[in-house]
Amino acid sequence: MTRTDQDGLTVIDHPLIRHKLTIMRRTGTSSAQFRQLLREISLLLAYEVTRDLPLEDVEIETPLAITQKKQLSGKKPCFVSIMRAGDGLLQGLLDLVPSARVGHVGLYRDHDTLQPVKYYFKMPHGLDERHVLVVDPMLATGNSAAAAISLIKEAGATNIRFLCLVSAPEGVKALQDAHPDVPVFTASLDEGLNEKGYIMPGLGDVGDRLFGTK
Ligand code: URA
Repeated sequence: MTRTDQDGLTVIDHPLIRHKLTIMRRTGTSSAQFRQLLREISLLLAYEVTRDLPLEDVEIETPLAITQKKQLSGKKPCFVSIMRAGDGLLQGLLDLVPSARVGHVGLYRDHDTLQPVKYYFKMPHGLDERHVLVVDPMLATGNSAAAAISLIKEAGATNIRFLCLVSAPEGVKALQDAHPDVPVFTASLDEGLNEKGYIMPGLGDVGDRLFGTK
């Protein structure tokens, strides 16, 4: 089985993804390996998440005949990275859909209110006509994902999916409560959060592991 669909949550558990994710989880995996594996996994995830993109007929000429075939229809899809760890997922997605548009959302957590605050927001035009895929490797509390998606909706998006590598049940619930219209795709539903808000067993701080900042 390569995917399990349940109540708006799809776990994409292809054997290659599971194998690569296991290597990513190991403490001894270097930043270079970690980045490369995330790129490879994101390509496999993107294949599943985009499987129902709409198609239209197009007439083409092969060396032998004129024929009607399919091509993607409508405006180019938009991938939105929740910075900074989301950028690690972006590369594989762009390998697969090089013509996609890219948006970025930057949020930090206010120490007093503990609420996410926006520090960066840049989207392509025409969001209302695009398939939007919001990406962040870890769906932990769900607060940043929910806040980012609210901002992306305010900017006009109506057709949104969320993709992460590892998720916690608490984060999936929080995101689905806030945005029941947004399907969630993940490679793994882990056990839950620890007292510091890290996913267990998880893989630690993805940003630090990706960029070697610790
Ligand atoms: N962010 C991370 O990088 N790791 C977690 O486990 C949770 C949030």
